Amino acid sequence: MYNNNPTLDFNKKIEEDKQGNIFFKEQVVSKTNDENKKFYIESYGCQMNFSDSEIVASILNDMGYASTRDMEESDLILINTCSIREKAEDTVRKRLRVFDKIKNKKPGTLIGVLGCMAERLKDKLLHQEKLVDLVVGPDAYRDLPNLIATADDGDKGINVFLSREETYSDISPIRLGSNGVSAFVTIMRGCDNMCSFCVVPFTRGRERSRDPFSILAECNDLFSRGFREVTLLGQNVDSYKWKNPDTNEPVDFADLIEMVAQIHPDLRVRFSTSHPKDITDKVLENMAKYENICKYIHLPVQSGNSRILKKMNRTYDREWYMDKMRAIWRIIPDCAVSSDIIAGFCGETEEEHQDTLSMIEFSQYSMSYMFFYSERPGTLAARKYEDDIPLDVKKRRLQEIIRLQNQISFRKNQASIGKTFKVLIEKVSKRSDTDLAGRNSQNKMIVFPRKDAKIGEYAYVKVTDCTAATLKGHLVDAPEV
Ligand code: SAH
Ligand code: SF4
Ligand code: F3S
Repeated sequence: MYNNNPTLDFNKKIEEDKQGNIFFKEQVVSKTNDENKKFYIESYGCQMNFSDSEIVASILNDMGYASTRDMEESDLILINTCSIREKAEDTVRKRLRVFDKIKNKKPGTLIGVLGCMAERLKDKLLHQEKLVDLVVGPDAYRDLPNLIATADDGDKGINVFLSREETYSDISPIRLGSNGVSAFVTIMRGCDNMCSFCVVPFTRGRERSRDPFSILAECNDLFSRGFREVTLLGQNVDSYKWKNPDTNEPVDFADLIEMVAQIHPDLRVRFSTSHPKDITDKVLENMAKYENICKYIHLPVQSGNSRILKKMNRTYDREWYMDKMRAIWRIIPDCAVSSDIIAGFCGETEEEHQDTLSMIEFSQYSMSYMFFYSERPGTLAARKYEDDIPLDVKKRRLQEIIRLQNQISFRKNQASIGKTFKVLIEKVSKRSDTDLAGRNSQNKMIVFPRKDAKIGEYAYVKVTDCTAATLKGHLVDAPEV
């Protein structure tokens, strides 16, 4: 029987390579029968890509495609790609070799490259990778039905048009990899910042904000379906701006998080990524005002040195960043902050690298994503600056950064021992199915014996032990207020 509303079941893996690059890799499963066409999708890169795959799944579902986790039985294999570092693109090319084998066995299978690598390489990808049938950029997913029809007819389907308006606001994403508790909600697309090292403005186009009504509708719907946490996504959420065309009333990011927080006190609100130049005291004040806006900010510093920050075109300097940290500590004393850091950017001296280390110490990040600089073709840095730091120096500096960050993370975890946190229970622990795991407001995962607690509920957990990565504890009664 035809089933156009497949039950999705999911197995998401977060993979981390040696450089600390994080990949979300998800596989979708649906229970359906053989009459359906089936698609298989893998996603790499940032949370926005992960979120886009949920939009793609919804569009394909409307076409009658069901999802499968078994690529060998699929009619359409999609890979949602990332271009942020060379390594990310290498990973995708390796996966294409695997898909190649499947296509050899089953020649009718269509192979599609979606996302940032599709956008960056455009038709070059079709010349370089002969097996690819579809190349679809991040703003062209609505065109998938046409492109698939073209490819079914034996031609190549390509659309890499970047839009100034597309926000997919009316498409209800199919929640891939969902634990039924937390979901990503994209609130804006693109980026206007032009950091000199970064490929994203080229792959994702101009910044545009989604209308707040559709964001609130999506969050309301998630809450009514039992979800208890939304993460609002954008490359630079603090520059969210929208104007009501009827009243001319503006809505900024501080207003938006307040509106989402007011949906229900039991709906946690998170967001990512914040840009140090744009995060305002109004945002921090609203975070302090609402218990359900999580006390956690991902505030990538990139470098601790003002000269390098200028070359990176980050538009803030060391002092400005430190002032932002001081504002966070003043307005939200219990806030955790995490960062992204790049080691060995063009021309970085040993002293300038030391400034990054001292910035990590100053900021006391709960965690960081740490990378060495990878030159991306077409970016401002590639055109203007020589990638002159030898690989072994980049790697050594990165190791120093990682070592320091690990020490700080461990120290911060140890300081949590003896404290009690409210956690939202997300899953069964990976190590033991008698344990559950959930995050506190500061985004720290805490593992504890399950007793009567259930996934999707809030619980109070007293921390008794820790590793560098996780806190361990046990359930306690709610503290008296
Ligand atoms: N919009 C976010 C970051 C998106 S990319 C922000 O502005 O913070 C995620 C991270 O990848 C960046 O913060 C940066 O640390 C890293 N990154 C981006 N381009 C890179 C490059 N060319 N080489 C190494 N790391 C890079
Ligand atoms: Fe890239 Fe900078 Fe935009 Fe982030 S803010 S996506 S680092 S250009
Ligand atoms: Fe990668 Fe594109 Fe995200 S380059 S980090 S998938 S916006």
